[in-house]
Amino acid sequence: MAISFLLDGKRIDLDTVDPTGSVLDFLRTQLRRTGTKEGCAEGDCGACTVLVGTLEASDRVQWRALNSCIQFLPMLHGKALMTVESLAHDGVPNPLQACMAANGSSQCGFCTPGFVMSLHGRAIGATGCELPVEDVIAGNLCRCTGYGPILEAAQEVSVLAQNDAAVIAQLAEIEGGAASGEWEGRRWFAPRSADALASLCREYPNATLVAGATDVGLWITKGLKALETAIFIGDIAELATIEATDEALFLGANVRHADAHAALAQLHPDLGELWRRFAALQIRNAGTIGGNIANGSPIGDGPPALIALGAQLKLRSTEGTRTLPLEDFFLDYGKQDLREGEFVAGVRIPRPASGTVIHIAKLSRRFDSDISAVCGAFALTLEKGDVACARVAFGGMAATPRRAAACEAALVGQPFTQETMALAASALREDFTPLDDVRGSADYRLAAGGNLLHRLWLRAQGNSVAVLDLEALDG
Ligand SMILES: Cc1cc2nc3c(=O)[nH]c(=O)nc-3n(C[C@H](O)[C@H](O)[C@H](O)COP(=O)(O)OP(=O)(O)OC[C@H]3O[C@@H](n4cnc5c(N)ncnc54)[C@H](O)[C@@H]3O)c2cc1C
Ligand code: FES
Ligand code: FES
Repeated sequence: MAISFLLDGKRIDLDTVDPTGSVLDFLRTQLRRTGTKEGCAEGDCGACTVLVGTLEASDRVQWRALNSCIQFLPMLHGKALMTVESLAHDGVPNPLQACMAANGSSQCGFCTPGFVMSLHGRAIGATGCELPVEDVIAGNLCRCTGYGPILEAAQEVSVLAQNDAAVIAQLAEIEGGAASGEWEGRRWFAPRSADALASLCREYPNATLVAGATDVGLWITKGLKALETAIFIGDIAELATIEATDEALFLGANVRHADAHAALAQLHPDLGELWRRFAALQIRNAGTIGGNIANGSPIGDGPPALIALGAQLKLRSTEGTRTLPLEDFFLDYGKQDLREGEFVAGVRIPRPASGTVIHIAKLSRRFDSDISAVCGAFALTLEKGDVACARVAFGGMAATPRRAAACEAALVGQPFTQETMALAASALREDFTPLDDVRGSADYRLAAGGNLLHRLWLRAQGNSVAVLDLEALDG
């Protein structure tokens, strides 16, 4: 058997699957469950939202809202699936659906199933249900109704009972261990331990690792790429540990952004805000810390913040583990310091020492669910009014996430004053020659980077009025 999963309490066993067939296509074309819609096929619009439940601690199902357009079938193995068709019984809509209909929360209805699933997840305690409702639906776009009637329905039906007893028993029966298969000459594996992954990486050094598929999914749906060998790593539990000590926070590579959020917010409030604005809940429920680092994107949000905080990256292979400063991992555009057979195992983020002034900010064209134009991160250690140590890192300024050496040099040993900040801001022009692109011009990026240094200084003075003025200018 290649994969087994539950759909509305019914077990579905598939002997063979296309490893890059999407859950959305399977629902619509094989099962004729056409309630789940395709809007963008790239994780942006939420029309394809479904709920996926995982058995946790053998007595609890944790549901998550996910974009089925960029979830691949092997990722469903051992899990429970709920679609919009799961909610009504005998033609009677569930209370949330009834409330949305009564409130006029739908016009063309294309987006509606996705909103219903996100809000149903919130009502049954899915991951992220504690967030403000606006954050829960930030990944669902509606072009015609306007959000007012949708939000009203959400407030009226904010809790629904969910009895998972039968699902728990059935999931326990499905052998959720390693799975593998072949499809039209393409191989895939889904190991369940880091050792098994290391062996597979040695055997298939050119295989594509797939964790949450929020990047890889688009290579398929938009890039029409075929993966010759795919290794699905997202269910290796030992790579999903979160360990918080007095000295540091360790996040395993497989920790989902949604699960990392609280621990990061506890490390520093700016990290909490950065992760709140990381994509939208469906993407944060799937995307991993390891994937965000390993993809080497110049506009990824995690790396600049973690570099500024002095994070160390842990890499693993059959040869053992090695650790390196996160900034050294990014060699050039699309080129990371990942040796043959190696994978990202996790990242260790030291707790900031007292006396460290920190500011981390994402600037993007849209507040919600958008990629950064610039992501700036600053950690300055002050001693007797001088900057003793400076770590400044940016995303969106160069071909990789990078530290700003000239800017740091302009800070270290200087008094922590507005004048020093202005000189350090000018030094950014020595560090970076940013691109002009759709997200921002080179001049905008350099000016914005400098403004963030100014904002750090204002915040350190407790000048909240001036900071608010600056934030209004950021848009
Ligand atoms: C709509 C949308 C919005 C987004 N918004 C943001 C945003 O606001 N900020 C942001 O930073 N990113 C954003 N992203 C990008 C993406 O969600 C993140 O980079 C995410 O963390 C990738 O993780 P993943 O597990 O989904 O990676 P995958 O897609 O599974 O993999 C990405 C890459 O990493 C490799 N890989 C994965 N895990 C490992 C590992 N352990 N070891 C070695 N290689 C590995 C894969 O082979 C692949 O090359 C967005 C994406 C989408 C689709
Ligand atoms: S179809 Fe738009 S997020 Fe999946
Ligand atoms: S009701 Fe038409 S897009 Fe939302």
